[in-house]
Amino acid sequence: MNQSSFLLCANWKMNKNPEEARTYIQQITQLVPKEKQNNFIFFAPALTLSALRQECAHTSFGWGAQNCHYEDKGAFTGENSPLVLKQMGATHCLVGHSERKQFFYEDEILIQKKVKALLKHSIQPVICIGENAEERKKGNSFQVINTQLHGILKNIEFFNSICIAYEPVWAIGSNQPAKSEQISDMQKHIKKLCESEKKNLQFLYGGSVNEENVHTLSQISGVDGFLVGGASLDPQKFFNLSQT
Ligand code: 13P
Repeated sequence: MNQSSFLLCANWKMNKNPEEARTYIQQITQLVPKEKQNNFIFFAPALTLSALRQECAHTSFGWGAQNCHYEDKGAFTGENSPLVLKQMGATHCLVGHSERKQFFYEDEILIQKKVKALLKHSIQPVICIGENAEERKKGNSFQVINTQLHGILKNIEFFNSICIAYEPVWAIGSNQPAKSEQISDMQKHIKKLCESEKKNLQFLYGGSVNEENVHTLSQISGVDGFLVGGASLDPQKFFNLSQT
């Protein structure tokens, strides 16, 4: 990893019960030196967040939820309050993951509300964007990213640094990460879009990052970190990603 601030973000998705989360954090705490721990962020399912919080309390790891609502409280059965996340001490929250879009029909209007709610509570949103296979095949990737990003960012005035995870849908869980050139082109494109909104970009890549490809992917200029699904589920394997 070429930068000391390179981020490794674990998206556990709907995996790990509280006990498993505790064991995981205990194990990875033994592996990652204290001064490097703030380069690691764990996104756990809601039912596991209390356990994650307790284990992370003795560490410098970042942690947070995979989703939240945009209201602090109220009649929203089954949702996660951003206010409670703040009260628990969460540092980050994923928003707009493609699985939320695919299975729970989230759109840019909703995602933007969530981003605003998180910023209000000073929780760093990690905003996921990415085109699907058909959009890439038709040559529409950049246009799709424009639409997604403008929809989420417009009228957000009150922050100047933004964390975007570019996760092409076709690369997620497919064992086929995007090519270095595709990631680099998209990084430049997104950076330009953010600059036009006068925002600094922290750019993460996600989609089939693993021990075999992490070295190549970490060489891409402008990539500030990874958002990792499958290869984050084992603490040793996830730690190994930082050893390239
Ligand atoms: P995989 O690393 O399993 O492809 O998942 C990527 C992802 O969706 C992270 O948010």
